Amino acid sequence: MKDAQKDTILNHAGRDPRANHGIVNPPVYHCSTVLFPTLAELEESDRNPFEGVHYGRMGTPTSQAFEEAITRLEGGYKTVHAASGLNAIATALLSFTKAGDHVLITDSAYGPTRRFANDTLTPYGVEVEYFDPTIGAGIASLLKPNTSVVFLESPGSLTFEIQDIPAISAAAKTVGAKVLIDNTWATPLLLQPLRLGADVSIHSATKYIVGHADAMLGAIVCADEESWLKVKKTATRTGACAGPDDIFLGLRGLRTLSVRLKQHQENALALAGWLEKRPEVTRILHPAHPDFPGHALWKRDFAGSSGLFSVVIKAVPKTALAAMLDHLELFGMGYSWGGFESLILPTRPAAIRTATRWDDPGIVLRLHAGLEDVGDLIRDLDSAFKRLNDAL
Ligand SMILES: Cc1ncc(COP(=O)(O)O)c(C=O)c1O
Repeated sequence: MKDAQKDTILNHAGRDPRANHGIVNPPVYHCSTVLFPTLAELEESDRNPFEGVHYGRMGTPTSQAFEEAITRLEGGYKTVHAASGLNAIATALLSFTKAGDHVLITDSAYGPTRRFANDTLTPYGVEVEYFDPTIGAGIASLLKPNTSVVFLESPGSLTFEIQDIPAISAAAKTVGAKVLIDNTWATPLLLQPLRLGADVSIHSATKYIVGHADAMLGAIVCADEESWLKVKKTATRTGACAGPDDIFLGLRGLRTLSVRLKQHQENALALAGWLEKRPEVTRILHPAHPDFPGHALWKRDFAGSSGLFSVVIKAVPKTALAAMLDHLELFGMGYSWGGFESLILPTRPAAIRTATRWDDPGIVLRLHAGLEDVGDLIRDLDSAFKRLNDAL
């Protein structure tokens, strides 16, 4: 349906029961070799390897179905899937940089994004510079004639600063730099950065899109054909592709993304509201929180919030923090987020920043609100604070 709404797209994109015996979901193509019946057809496919199916790594009907669905949701030109979110970030950065270029990356970016830039791009001759995530139009003062990429992550996934995508994109265009954004927190449902001026929107589909903490998957959505071709060629050269079962889990996750996200949002807001009143908590880092510095920008650009946010608690000795975190019944401690289950993670933003300082002496705890009963989650945190206080 033309002009279908997002919930309808989520439900129907990337599947065609009529082409598949009436079966609701598309088949999962396990594929490496694709056979060509004639020399002419083999040669034709060699000339256009990105058309149809050529070889498993370049795309199958399964990966194409996933890419088509994500493209429609983001309002992009085309998507390239990837083996993980980090693989998507690395592929996108490699696609738009070469030796001698200058790259600007938000200081709030996900740690492994920084590591890829510092430890892979820098030795290849790319100058990597970090900027204050709240810089907005002020990015103009950092742009150089050779700036090829401005990389955003909004909100930053530890400290949640919101970036002014339209202002940064407008400035980047003046030097021909591409704006890449990690849009994992919002998913295409809550933010469509290509409509705000970004050139490439990147997802760790591992998080909300897969939604069940059981697969690694990434997506790179491009605004135009030229960008897509660059990314597709890099992905082909580096062999970036995901397994068919993981892609299927991404497609399946999309069908329920909207209802899950609403519940993640509701639970996160309820937890933030409860945490705000705790004497141990000094700050809530949640873009939907009215006192949060980036709140106005979030309200302008986003259609809602997801389940990931941070709180800052007063500094306590490690033994007290361990007493708090070691015996949680429902919150798990571990990396990633976006699954059905609640998570908590102590983080150290001060340790990774270079362009700005994170001076808050408190402990930053990142929470992912899962889909459990929120009253039960609060009881789990309440007991955790009791253990912390008993240990002081
Ligand atoms: C904001 C953000 N981007 C990208 C990634 C990387 O995704 P993946 O784990 O799928 O490689 C993560 C993972 O935690 C993340 O938090």
